[in-house]
Amino acid sequence: MSDRVYIFDTTLRDGEQSPGCSMTVPEKLQMAAKLVDLGVDLLEAGFPIASDGDFEAVDAVSREYPEARVAALARCCTLDVERAARSLEKAKKPRIHTFIATSDIHLKFKLKKSREQVLDEAAAAVELAKRYVDDVEFSAEDGARTEAGYLEAVSRAVVDAGAGTVNIPDTVGYSVPDEYAALIGRIVKALGDRAIVSVHCHDDLGLAVANSIAAVRAGARQIECTINGIGERAGNCALEEVVMAMKVRQDQLPYHTVIRTEHLYAASETLSSIITFGPQPNKAIVGRNAFAHEAGIHQDGYLKEKSTYEIIDPRSVGIPEGRLVLGKHSGRHALKKRCEDLGYTLTREELEEVYKRFTSFADRKKGVLDEEIASIVEESQRALVAGQ
Ligand code: KIV
Ligand code: ZN
Repeated sequence: MSDRVYIFDTTLRDGEQSPGCSMTVPEKLQMAAKLVDLGVDLLEAGFPIASDGDFEAVDAVSREYPEARVAALARCCTLDVERAARSLEKAKKPRIHTFIATSDIHLKFKLKKSREQVLDEAAAAVELAKRYVDDVEFSAEDGARTEAGYLEAVSRAVVDAGAGTVNIPDTVGYSVPDEYAALIGRIVKALGDRAIVSVHCHDDLGLAVANSIAAVRAGARQIECTINGIGERAGNCALEEVVMAMKVRQDQLPYHTVIRTEHLYAASETLSSIITFGPQPNKAIVGRNAFAHEAGIHQDGYLKEKSTYEIIDPRSVGIPEGRLVLGKHSGRHALKKRCEDLGYTLTREELEEVYKRFTSFADRKKGVLDEEIASIVEESQRALVAGQ
């Protein structure tokens, strides 16, 4: 089995449909530019039946980026599939992504349909989609909570109908890694090389990245994910995290993607500027503190050799370099370095005086600015001269 993992970005669809994240067509185009720079394998641009804006977004992204593989979402019904097909008319590499829920809980309470009915509708939608495009993906919504034998039967049926990708979402973020991997492994075995098995994990228990990786180990070869992990409720698997996990831990995860990771930070920043919130400061890979060091022991180690406290070269994700944050936990080594960067070469005696004043000042503040450090140095030097 190939080690190539396809990255299916759904920032513009699943991400966009969550609170505070809706995007206009020009904003989707702005974000699509960043996703193209990143080199995502698939770009899901919208759910065309949901609104005219979604339809236009799929159409606009298809026109603007003819080389990109563009996906449009559709429920398993004629109206949706035909609208998705129309929105993709200008795409050179269109994919119709059709879905229906398969878990008993969704069948009973939401769809009020039998298993047989759902299986038939799934196969019929794939067959219809195949009349418009070669590339059809089927998603078994709430797949992770679907009885495995039935999920296998649906997966076989949609592949017989022409689906090239079968996605098994953990729609409600309920799975744990071993359990999800076992389910994915079963579907991979059932489909063999007839289709790519895909995963789409929500983060309700904070396990979306772990579940996606467990699934890849079990044979899945497409991961659906979003920039900054945005998406329904607690969000989706974060693209930057899952991609960097595979890049940094090649020893444990011998898979590869074609993501140009130096564009990750720019993609995250662009998204934050479009939607109403950015990633939390301690968010892995792209958060403000992801490469910041404040504790004295850490700063000392970092200044001696970066790999003591940094497992990722910040430049590999598009951040120029790690940051030393000067605060009450910082030590002499980092303070001396910052003073040098500010143009002050301190004697041992001066450094002691600056350090004493700095720690007492930092105790009362959340962080110390460069101009405050400069004035502490000036004051210390004056005090030392006056005391001589
Ligand atoms: O979470 C989900 O199940 C989805 C599908 C439509 C793929 O977003
Ligand atoms: Zn989803």
